[in-house]
Amino acid sequence: MARREKPQGKATRGKTANNRLRRVDRFLHGYDPALIKRVDDAYAQALFVDLGYGRTPVTTLESARWLRRLHPGLGVLGVEIDAERVAAAESARGPGTDFRLGGFNLPLRPGETVRLVRAFNVLRQYDEAEVAGALELLAGQMLPGSLLLEGTSDPYGRYWSANVYRRGQKAGFITEALVFGTSFRAGFDPVAFQAILPKNLIHRVVPGEPIHAFFEAWKRSVAHTAAHSTWGQRQHFTAAGEALAREGYRLNTRRRWLGRGYLIWQDPWGEAGS
Ligand SMILES: C[S@@+](CC[C@H](N)C(=O)[O-])C[C@H]1O[C@@H](n2cnc3c(N)ncnc32)[C@H](O)[C@@H]1O
Repeated sequence: MARREKPQGKATRGKTANNRLRRVDRFLHGYDPALIKRVDDAYAQALFVDLGYGRTPVTTLESARWLRRLHPGLGVLGVEIDAERVAAAESARGPGTDFRLGGFNLPLRPGETVRLVRAFNVLRQYDEAEVAGALELLAGQMLPGSLLLEGTSDPYGRYWSANVYRRGQKAGFITEALVFGTSFRAGFDPVAFQAILPKNLIHRVVPGEPIHAFFEAWKRSVAHTAAHSTWGQRQHFTAAGEALAREGYRLNTRRRWLGRGYLIWQDPWGEAGS
């Protein structure tokens, strides 16, 4: 973004909390570690961008700690559209960690590129009609092969869901996965995810829509595997995920994901290879 270009978007509520996105960090750490570690030419200066970090930069700093386990020199940029929130992050700046005023048009400096953007609890406060334009703008500033994790959580991060968008070789994203995460602290019920769906889906849980069919199938698989709850929520979540995969949904059924409360629906809209 050129220096005086107006940040694209609008200031929204800045609510955040310590550890709110801890499970999102763990997901990012495990989902595509090779992307975090890349240091080839195009990726040498490629940043992790936390877009819309909120009233305090706490979740950005938590993510930086997690992702730097994989890549100690990873550049981290927190972006906020609210100038007071950028000022509040002043003391959190450090080597390789910066906080800048900006919007969907990211405030990048010459030579900086982007490998990963997380935008959590940001688009939920926009109208659904504004989502496509925001995504297009972001995709245009990200490297081929990079990821955007765009999602929504409850206030404490017990339940969250996110679109995993992959920037293709040509402009634009494909939806590589739709992911649902639970800490199991609030029990486990597919219906709870419907309240924290990403903006492009939250109004679409109605008959005839694929996301509605998915939730109906997930609820059925949870009911059919109820006996597994005897061994605990994790076992039940895993068994239900496996049952849902048997119904034909393309889920990542690895225990390392299901057993830890991550349901990853791969290529949900059949865009891969298109
Ligand atoms: C609810 S807070 C989320 C904070 C943190 N990401 C979390 O999930 O806990 C949303 C923040 O996004 C900021 N925001 C909204 N639109 C933005 C945009 N286009 N660019 C940068 N920040 C934006 C708002 O100012 C607000 O502080």
